[in-house]
Amino acid sequence: MKSTKQIELGYGVPDGLYVPKVAQSNVNCTINKPYIIYQKDFDFFKSNIRKWCTKINSSMSHVYKHADLVIGNGSTHIYTVLIRGLYNLLKRPIRLFLEQPYWFVAQVLKKEDPQIKYITDPNADIDLEIRCTPNNPDGTEYIEPRTNAKYLLYDFAYNMTIYTDKPVTINQKKNKTYIYTGTVSKIGVPSSRFGWGFVDGPHSSELAKFMQTEVIITVGGGNVAWYSANNYLNYLLNNEKHFKKLMSTNNTILNNNKKIMMKALEPYKFISIEKPSDHKGGYLWVKTSKNSNLANWFLNKFNVVVKNGKSFGANQQLVRINMMAKTSDIREVARRMRKKFTIKKKIKFNKTRKSK
Ligand SMILES: Cc1ncc(COP(=O)(O)O)c(C=O)c1O
Repeated sequence: MKSTKQIELGYGVPDGLYVPKVAQSNVNCTINKPYIIYQKDFDFFKSNIRKWCTKINSSMSHVYKHADLVIGNGSTHIYTVLIRGLYNLLKRPIRLFLEQPYWFVAQVLKKEDPQIKYITDPNADIDLEIRCTPNNPDGTEYIEPRTNAKYLLYDFAYNMTIYTDKPVTINQKKNKTYIYTGTVSKIGVPSSRFGWGFVDGPHSSELAKFMQTEVIITVGGGNVAWYSANNYLNYLLNNEKHFKKLMSTNNTILNNNKKIMMKALEPYKFISIEKPSDHKGGYLWVKTSKNSNLANWFLNKFNVVVKNGKSFGANQQLVRINMMAKTSDIREVARRMRKKFTIKKKIKFNKTRKSK
């Protein structure tokens, strides 16, 4: 098996998605030494981000119009500045609740961070609750909060028609503060590190200010990626045809990839696909009924890397498979899976013939 090329379907990179040429051309500048950027340097981005978010989820346009907007080096960055900002605002460790398991957050926020106190009981006192939809394997939409937290973060990394079949609307409560994160990474902007957080509700300006005190230090062409991301948003916003092409092409790619992979998984009866990811999202979440390490099984049997559920706080019977990967890679995985299954069937057939 090791003579085959290893296929990487573990990382969540959308490298199989369609990317218009304009996003591939960086602006003409490179910086090779550490470079400090302040939040105000990003002000020119803000109107495009407000427009972009309104376009992909118009039912929340009132929020996108007025809410404070914090820009970051990817939405991962927004998560971390939010924790620092809230810590400064509340002056004590943040009591954080996030639905376990499965989330990307488990990788981003450090378990040992003294500014965070992880709470698992939803009925306890909670400051911040994190919600993410639709990329969760357990069939829940993750819209309604489970706790009484005053601060709610909604991760909208995948809140676009290519990832969801209905736009997400949050009915905000007056006494709560909402943070909505987003990113260009998931629409396939190559090498861009660029994300945002809208902050809305009581203390939102104060919180946004605390979040914004963070400067962004980058080495190399980080800011080139921000300018190219802005070019990309301009391109998509200024022509409806460009936008429609991006959304429909990527939707087709995702659905096709899922179809291929689901068909390949079908004969393996000890593996099931977890809802709702068979309909939505950029991933397939797959679980085995056997008490074994499913990621290892994929690696050893087919030389395919998938994400172990363990890294999301789940167990090793669950894996995440990236459906935003190249269709050619997914086809190759499907071919290997079919081949193994046919060989196994043949061996079984021969054995029963011999014993007769
Ligand atoms: C749910 C979710 N949110 C956020 C991110 C990260 O976004 P960014 O690349 O902008 O840091 C990811 C990346 O995989 C993700 O899965």
